Amino acid sequence: MSRLFSPWRLRGVELKNRIVVSPMCQYMAQDGVAGEWHRVHLGSRAVGGAGMVIVEATAVSPEGRISPGDLGLWNEAQEEALRPIVAFMRSQGAVPGIQIAHAGRKASTAPPFRGGSFLSPGEGGWPILAPSALAFGSGGSPREMSEAEIGRVRESFVGAARRALSAGFDYLEIHMAHGYLLHSFLSPLSNRRTDSYGGSLDARMRFPLEVLDAVRKVWPEERPLGVRISAVDWVDGGWDLESSLVLARKLKERGVDLVDCSSGGIVPHAAIPVAPGYQTAFSERLRKEVGVATLAVGMITDPAQAEHILVTGQADGVALAREMLRDPYWPLHAANRLGVEFPWPAPYARARS
Ligand SMILES: Cc1cc2nc3c(=O)[nH]c(=O)nc-3n(C[C@H](O)[C@H](O)[C@H](O)COP(=O)(O)O)c2cc1C
Repeated sequence: MSRLFSPWRLRGVELKNRIVVSPMCQYMAQDGVAGEWHRVHLGSRAVGGAGMVIVEATAVSPEGRISPGDLGLWNEAQEEALRPIVAFMRSQGAVPGIQIAHAGRKASTAPPFRGGSFLSPGEGGWPILAPSALAFGSGGSPREMSEAEIGRVRESFVGAARRALSAGFDYLEIHMAHGYLLHSFLSPLSNRRTDSYGGSLDARMRFPLEVLDAVRKVWPEERPLGVRISAVDWVDGGWDLESSLVLARKLKERGVDLVDCSSGGIVPHAAIPVAPGYQTAFSERLRKEVGVATLAVGMITDPAQAEHILVTGQADGVALAREMLRDPYWPLHAANRLGVEFPWPAPYARARS
């Protein structure tokens, strides 16, 4: 019996296995609208047998995009373009999920494959919002958000959650990781506010938790809600695992079903010891000490490694990113490797060895 291929229930939603396609920005949208690239990219990963496919970081407002090519979910056209993609993923037995995000001080850049550098307004960029007027590395200079802007961004998250629901998604993930807006409120390295949104750990958690509470109210009871966190900043004086444990308890109390445990991204100079399984210890601590379901992510590439993470109780599910770009059919191959009976899509059945 394989744990990786055992079904997984989150509220009213059942995943056929514990393999999740991690959210991956494609930078291929036009005005935030999904196109043929997204249909094929997401569709192939659903055909490939993953239990859940999470759509890339999708901006809740135009200024919340990392680049002009980001997906968005602030208007009707964006919602309508996602609807058939969601329906196809579901028809292939994959739970359709989406990550909603605001890029904060990492906004207004060219896509990585076009250099990734900061775009000034003259180059098609836009003004940048952040908790404090502190740039990310050599990026653009953000403006410190007013309380009114904080309220507006919270409502943008709610609007995107409503549209995600209407488009048919079963799982919603709030992006609180990788140095984007909500993480930048959490971390003392990027949040130097002196009002009630900065200073103590409680104050730094205030805005991300307000977003969560507002989103949970519009996201139905029977559908799971997740949060991706950067469990640590990998910098002395930054966000640390003890803070993540405190946050995870609050997330759980407020109706979060899954904590997706990533790390880093708040500053460009952090030394991150990237190696197979380098983040699973975070997922394990949160799962065991807080009693919340977790997703492990980061250099998980081998079926036996994925099985081991689950069997040893380090996580409830595994998210794969780059390996799923190398091989969209990873779950089908993993089933073969682990000797699991797993149905292939009918038109591909003759290829199953
Ligand atoms: C092309 C690419 C795009 C990514 N975009 C996102 C994203 O939209 N949201 C996010 O939370 N993480 C994003 N990530 C991070 C991955 O989801 C994942 O956490 C990271 O790549 C580590 O997993 P891996 O070793 O399996 O690739 C991205 C990674 C890649 C390679």
